[in-house]
Amino acid sequence: MKPFEYGCVVKGDTFCPRPEIESLLTSNMESGQNTVVVGERRMGKTSLIMSAFSKTRRCRLLYVDLLNIRTISDFCDRVASAASRMGTGRTFLQKTLSFLARLRPTLSVDPHSGMPVVSVDSHLAEHVSSFEDIIAMIEKFAEKDRVVVVFDEFQEILKLDNPEQALASLRSRIQFLSNTCFVYSGSVRRDMVRMFIDYKSPFYKSAMTLNVGAIDDASFIKFLQRRFSVGGRKASRDFLLKVLDTANRVSGDVQQLCDAILIETEGKVELTVDDISKGVQLVLKQESSAFEIQTENLSKYQMKALLAVARFGGKHVFSTDFIERAGLSSAPTVKRALGTLVERGVLYYHEKEYKIFNPFLREWLTRI
Ligand SMILES: Nc1ncnc2c1ncn2[C@@H]1O[C@H](COP(=O)(O)OP(=O)(O)O)[C@@H](O)[C@H]1O
Ligand SMILES: [Mg+2]
Repeated sequence: MKPFEYGCVVKGDTFCPRPEIESLLTSNMESGQNTVVVGERRMGKTSLIMSAFSKTRRCRLLYVDLLNIRTISDFCDRVASAASRMGTGRTFLQKTLSFLARLRPTLSVDPHSGMPVVSVDSHLAEHVSSFEDIIAMIEKFAEKDRVVVVFDEFQEILKLDNPEQALASLRSRIQFLSNTCFVYSGSVRRDMVRMFIDYKSPFYKSAMTLNVGAIDDASFIKFLQRRFSVGGRKASRDFLLKVLDTANRVSGDVQQLCDAILIETEGKVELTVDDISKGVQLVLKQESSAFEIQTENLSKYQMKALLAVARFGGKHVFSTDFIERAGLSSAPTVKRALGTLVERGVLYYHEKEYKIFNPFLREWLTRI
């Protein structure tokens, strides 16, 4: 197994324990306390949820990834395919098919995993009334053991045609379910807040919010030292603090940087601060085409504003000085450009400062 893993759910030895939030989530799952898990991308929400679930007793998992859904039938399809992963064997699949009978389900084989997968008829499932069938299925599953339903990337619901209606309809059905626990996880903080507060959703009132921020330094450093030693390297505390700073303490970026450092230090044992910049170079090389695509999609103004934040920092962005240095014409132009960049998840606003979410993108921008 590789010492460092990124871009996937981590478990076992590649998962740094986060006992406090994890045990809280496990006990919420067991007691049926609905929970909203919020945090930036690559912080470790999905890994945490999976790890917390693995410690529950007598619960079954219905894990639904909602990334890139566009229609209600996409939503139903995702739930149906998640349901087919809940159990194995012909009887189980037959049951799933019969629970969803009204949505004319079909059984096929997933080309990636080779596992059977249930999907629903896209025409029949395009209306909110099909939530009824989905919820009724969950209710049947929950007759025996508690079902933990995870809606991951829940903010994607906002991309449906009429999100208010979808949310209202979903929640009105969900609130009567017993023996079920819902975990709503989302990465675009503003969207999650909008759904759970602005829409005054009963989801929110009954759900506890769990923030997944950075892993605390002491635990992460201990974990990273162990992983580096698996790779035959020695990493001091100071060295790792610098690594954490460089990667903005975003769990996935930290692991990516450590992996790059490992690659760049073949044959070496004791790691030194210089090795970090070699690692950064490699990450920039790995990511450059992704960054190119990401920035190609920006307007001229957005790009200028982003470059200015990378080069001069994101404080006092409406000052004449910033506007001039950015090569933009006025404060409203800056405001619009930055607003869109926040919406797209490129920037975030924290303590009166716009910051570039991905530390490697910031570095890359200062070099072009
Ligand atoms: N507890 C953890 N310990 C170590 N690395 C982690 C942990 N959680 C997340 N990561 C790193 O972050 C990456 C993304 O994790 P993931 O759970 O998919 O985040 P999210 O769901 O918030 O986007 C993982 O591939 C891994 O590199
Ligand atoms: Mg995730």
